[in-house]
Amino acid sequence: MTTPFSFSLHHTDGQARTGEITTSRGVIRTPAFMPVGTAGTVKAVQMRDVEATGADIILGNTYHLMLRPTAERVAKFGGLHKFSTWKGPILTDSGGFQVMSLAQMRKLTEKGVEFRSHIDGSKHMLTPERSIEIQCLLGADIQMQLDECPPFPITEEASLESLELSLRWAQRSKDAFADMAGPHQALYGIVQGSVFEDQRKRSAESLQEIGFPGYSVGGLAVGEGREQMFRVLDFTTPVLPKDKPRYLMGVGKPLDLVGAVERGIDMFDCVLPTRSGRHGQAWTWDGPLNLKNAKFVDDETPLDPDSDCPASRDYTKGYLNHLFRAGEYLGPMLLSWHNLDFYQRLMAAMRAAIAEDRFAQFAAEFRARHREKS
Ligand code: GUN
Repeated sequence: MTTPFSFSLHHTDGQARTGEITTSRGVIRTPAFMPVGTAGTVKAVQMRDVEATGADIILGNTYHLMLRPTAERVAKFGGLHKFSTWKGPILTDSGGFQVMSLAQMRKLTEKGVEFRSHIDGSKHMLTPERSIEIQCLLGADIQMQLDECPPFPITEEASLESLELSLRWAQRSKDAFADMAGPHQALYGIVQGSVFEDQRKRSAESLQEIGFPGYSVGGLAVGEGREQMFRVLDFTTPVLPKDKPRYLMGVGKPLDLVGAVERGIDMFDCVLPTRSGRHGQAWTWDGPLNLKNAKFVDDETPLDPDSDCPASRDYTKGYLNHLFRAGEYLGPMLLSWHNLDFYQRLMAAMRAAIAEDRFAQFAAEFRARHREKS
């Protein structure tokens, strides 16, 4: 017997919430941060090390995996979990967002999106049904409907048209999912509507009429800025059901996570910890540090002596500076690992603060300490 997907809300403190998502591959403690494993790998970090940071779930991408090595090949290997050695739950994005940002030629129609691969120029078609088929071949525990993530800024009229298309694709995704997936898997609907309150409301309400076990908030962190994003969350999370998980897609910096948890978000993913780690940026309680900076040449202190992550505790900043200056592979590996560990410790600290009804104090202290510009 596989465990069916479920969500239980444990505690709320203001709008902030802690809970647990149960899947057949394990429990996800929320608020959760999902490391991004786009191509079946969390770049430069081994799965056992990702797990040791406290990550309960990772993310994979339909777009990348359908092109290389193909979903059918991953299925032959027994699915993405076996292929990659990640044993916990995996959430996959549906592909539309990546097509829009990466593919060479894109043609959006009612049927789906046609595009050329950024890898070899080959032609592909992604429909809501094919996206679900791919996510099932990968064996994703949590899947996303195919949607259109409109650019920012966008006119109200164009946003509404895009949102209506995403709603029709939501129904088609749900129908396909009912045919192909099992009760241990879940499909989330994605709320769109840009920065327009009436449209976000319409999107959230229509998705609830279709009915999903979880709701994503898409179309944010696309250039609108932190204040606008928070304003959109202020009117979007109150129109989502309290008893279902809420996932803010593609977010963000530590201050974004704190502000979004404060507004009732339960799940996040972002390339930032691994991407910035590959480029020499370390995230810490005090803010980001550029380890390539000459000021670290003689620094004999570790990034975080209190962490039990070897990357944070055992290596001096001077050594990390040397690795980046010498172009050594170990530099990106250690900083990606450290950043993932920091993100997980931030999530754990937020969960503890919510459970103890002191989230507002935690958030205020974090904002006072964490400087985004050094
Ligand atoms: N990742 C970040 N934003 C989005 C979005 O709006 N839709 C999807 N599918 N993925 C995203």
